[in-house]
Amino acid sequence: MAQTDRPQNIPHWYSPESEVLSLSSGEGARVTDDEGTEYLDFVAQLYCVNAGHSNESIIQAMTGQARQIPYVSSSKTTPARDELAGRLAERAPGALNDVFFSISGSEANESAIQIAREYQDAPKVLTRWRSYHGSTYAAGGLSGDPETRGKIERYAATTGIAKFLPPLVHNSPFDGDTPEEIAQQAADHLEFVIKNEGPDSIAAVLTEPVAGTSGAYPAPPGYFERVREICDKYDVLLISDEVIAGFGRCGDWFGINTYDVEPDMITFAKGVTSAYAPLGGVLAREDIAAEVRKDGHDLGQTFAGHPVGCAAANAAMDAYEDGLIENCQELAPYIESELRALGERHEEVAHVHGRGLLWSVEFGHPETGEPFVDTRVEPDADNPVGDVREVAQEHGVLFGGGRPDTQVLLSPPLCIDRSDIDEAVAALEAGIEATF
Ligand SMILES: Cc1ncc(COP(=O)(O)O)c(C=O)c1O
Repeated sequence: MAQTDRPQNIPHWYSPESEVLSLSSGEGARVTDDEGTEYLDFVAQLYCVNAGHSNESIIQAMTGQARQIPYVSSSKTTPARDELAGRLAERAPGALNDVFFSISGSEANESAIQIAREYQDAPKVLTRWRSYHGSTYAAGGLSGDPETRGKIERYAATTGIAKFLPPLVHNSPFDGDTPEEIAQQAADHLEFVIKNEGPDSIAAVLTEPVAGTSGAYPAPPGYFERVREICDKYDVLLISDEVIAGFGRCGDWFGINTYDVEPDMITFAKGVTSAYAPLGGVLAREDIAAEVRKDGHDLGQTFAGHPVGCAAANAAMDAYEDGLIENCQELAPYIESELRALGERHEEVAHVHGRGLLWSVEFGHPETGEPFVDTRVEPDADNPVGDVREVAQEHGVLFGGGRPDTQVLLSPPLCIDRSDIDEAVAALEAGIEATF
């Protein structure tokens, strides 16, 4: 028994300045804390409870699996795992017909780059500045957000990763007059990086199709189509990190489906089980998987493809099929117009961007649009954006903070309705009015 009254649990992304919320129950899009205060969970916890809390059919599928057989070695197989692999392959674009399961999104990305490097016999992977791909040692190196990568790289060499610029980001050097021109400039820049790194040394480009925690940025029209062409030209694989963007979040099964592009691999986690159990994985093109099968793959993890997680995922996929993705598609124009109208009413809102039910409201000085604080160089400065979220929480709505923390991120469960959007926007507006 511990001889102290301080909490023993150290939360992830822990900051001594922030209060740690303790939640004890959830239902649909709502969660309740230990004191009985209810919140509208407009961030689906960590962009992951896509089917909402306490979904009875997911719970039943998990209990059923636990009764049947709770665990089967990841070096063997079991019906729930095989069923899920088949269903994922059916939903994935093109010839992505084989699945290698993992436990988390970080590990899915690490597996994907290992497979890509072996298949291509090339050491490097290109990822974007400001991206987030996880925070274990290899995945943290893939991440382009300095808060994560800086911490990892202080003590560990992250070999074989080079960075390129995303098409849309604050202070971007791409200054085209139209989104199409920006897409062209950003794709030309990627080609420049590939040529300078040496095409033969590059196994893959790994990128989020719609940027997640860096700010819910969809790509400008034509960008991914051009990236696909460049990858083909230099024989580089394209890996779509769908850990946030997948499973209905952007209005389709995968975020990359919202462009006319087929990647060579997809990595997934979070929404695959609606976060009812940890599960991730890599969907790979058939011929890439054939190489893995031919040569064998003498790597693995005990809990990869956990049967209870697979059962949860099969039931979550039923829920997505039975109307949740459609609901996301239906609500997307409404959330967009409400957020844009909010932006019109408040000059501190610098930008609004997103896709499906993944949106960012970015804040900046009314005259310049520049963020109030550049958290990369002033990590300890007072940040009004945190105050906006705090007041919104006092008004009963939970939002996400981006990396960098210049924005409020919205990523509700896909089971919400219009009145939930109204409630969330009202709480956000209360936060803005109280802060500025
Ligand atoms: C796009 C993206 N990739 C990968 C990850 C890492 O996933 P996990 O936290 O399950 O390791 C995240 C987590 O937020 C993510 O947003």
